[in-house]
Amino acid sequence: MTNAPKKIQSAEGKLGVMLVGLGAISTTVIAGLDAIRKGRTKPYGSLTQMGTIRLGKRTEHRSPIVKDFVPLATLEDIEIAAWDLFEDDGYTAAKKAGVLSTEDLEAARGALESVKPMKAVFDREWVKKLDGTWVKAGKTKRELADQLMQDIQNFQKERGVTRTVMIWCASTETFAEQTEVQKNLKNFEKGLDENDASIAPSMIYAYAALKLGVPFANGAPNLTVDTPALIELANETRTPVAGKDFKTGQTLMKTILAPGLRARHLGLNGWFSTNILGNRDGEVLDDPGSFKTKEESKLSVLDTILQPELNPDLYGNIYHKVRINYYPPRGDAKEGWDNIDIFGWMGYPMQIKIDFLCRDSILAAPIVLDLALFMDLAKRSELRGIQEWLSFYFKSPQTAEGLYPEHNLFIQETKLKNTLRYIMGEDPITHLGNEYYGM
Ligand SMILES: NC(=O)c1ccc[n+]([C@@H]2O[C@H](COP(=O)([O-])OP(=O)(O)OC[C@H]3O[C@@H](n4cnc5c(N)ncnc54)[C@H](O)[C@@H]3O)[C@@H](O)[C@H]2O)c1
Repeated sequence: MTNAPKKIQSAEGKLGVMLVGLGAISTTVIAGLDAIRKGRTKPYGSLTQMGTIRLGKRTEHRSPIVKDFVPLATLEDIEIAAWDLFEDDGYTAAKKAGVLSTEDLEAARGALESVKPMKAVFDREWVKKLDGTWVKAGKTKRELADQLMQDIQNFQKERGVTRTVMIWCASTETFAEQTEVQKNLKNFEKGLDENDASIAPSMIYAYAALKLGVPFANGAPNLTVDTPALIELANETRTPVAGKDFKTGQTLMKTILAPGLRARHLGLNGWFSTNILGNRDGEVLDDPGSFKTKEESKLSVLDTILQPELNPDLYGNIYHKVRINYYPPRGDAKEGWDNIDIFGWMGYPMQIKIDFLCRDSILAAPIVLDLALFMDLAKRSELRGIQEWLSFYFKSPQTAEGLYPEHNLFIQETKLKNTLRYIMGEDPITHLGNEYYGM
């Protein structure tokens, strides 16, 4: 039975996309959007722009492109702003990031130069490897949050945007666990007034966004919005949140391959992942605190896909190791190796080797675009709080308390598309298929 479509506010008017951090990913997003608008390239890697969604029975042949099925902002209507602790405009930042060719940089020069970062809320305690001067001053963390809210409101007014989303594309903060301050909104707001040390800069950005009803997505593994206090605020202001840590590169491959091994009941003894990268992200992750945040995020995926507690003979004794090595000569062109020790019939061992010569920011940019469009759709569809249907894009999907995250990319894709069907009043697709056989 078809459900009723949700009431969705129109996507007319401009969508403001506020990026925290104007580094490799953010500048690649800006240059890519410009190139797509000018017809120089296509939106490769973007599910909203290139993906299709099947509706109804297979015999109906209804498979529109996602952007033609759900009412999304158009790429022409996107306005971008960013914060950073370095004053470089988008062009200089992109040049330093070293992701794009000179030809692509020059072609997008105007679009990149037009993004001049606003001063950051930054604290070296949270990112030890960076030191910039383009930083806001304030006596309390509350004052800093107020300044960010002012930035958001100024941007909205100056650029005439009707809706806004914020996406954390800034460096990975040092590892932190939830404290009493993040337990509820009251404690958190008191912490802002009292400059509580456990409130990270990323939490101040998230607070400012949510307070103004601006959806917030977290592309890094920091705790940030994954705390009861900020989820309480999101629910109070009816604002969507999603996170954490964009799923690109090695983890993307892991969540593509592991479901296949599990489906065929091939056992696993060990999975060793190592990689070299030389961009600023790699430099930040060279700090043990930031690496620990990332490591936790990368390690968690296998357990929930393989479920060793349900399959102890196959997956009860896995040695899983993840290494990240900062190696400057590579820049953004990362290389990731996986050695996977599996076993099959009669326990015979086999090995799989992956050598993924990937480009981090090229894989991350379409995720930023899709998240911006979907977070805005979620807000207009009155979906608030954690958007688990966007797990597809994250290494450590944020879920309701007590719920284990779903890491299997194919389950995540089904969940995402079924949510779109649900929003639009179409039947979910179960792949049961009895109807084709007269049952
Ligand atoms: N590229 C990927 O595939 C990928 C995947 C998952 C997660 N991530 C995460 O995304 C984030 C961005 O990646 P990147 O490659 O663009 O990194 P980057 O180092 O090139 O850019 C990050 C930018 O954020 C700025 N920054 C740091 N703290 C800030 C703050 N408090 N406020 C404002 N700006 C701040 C830095 O100065 C830098 O310019 C990193 O945390 C990274 O771990 C990246």
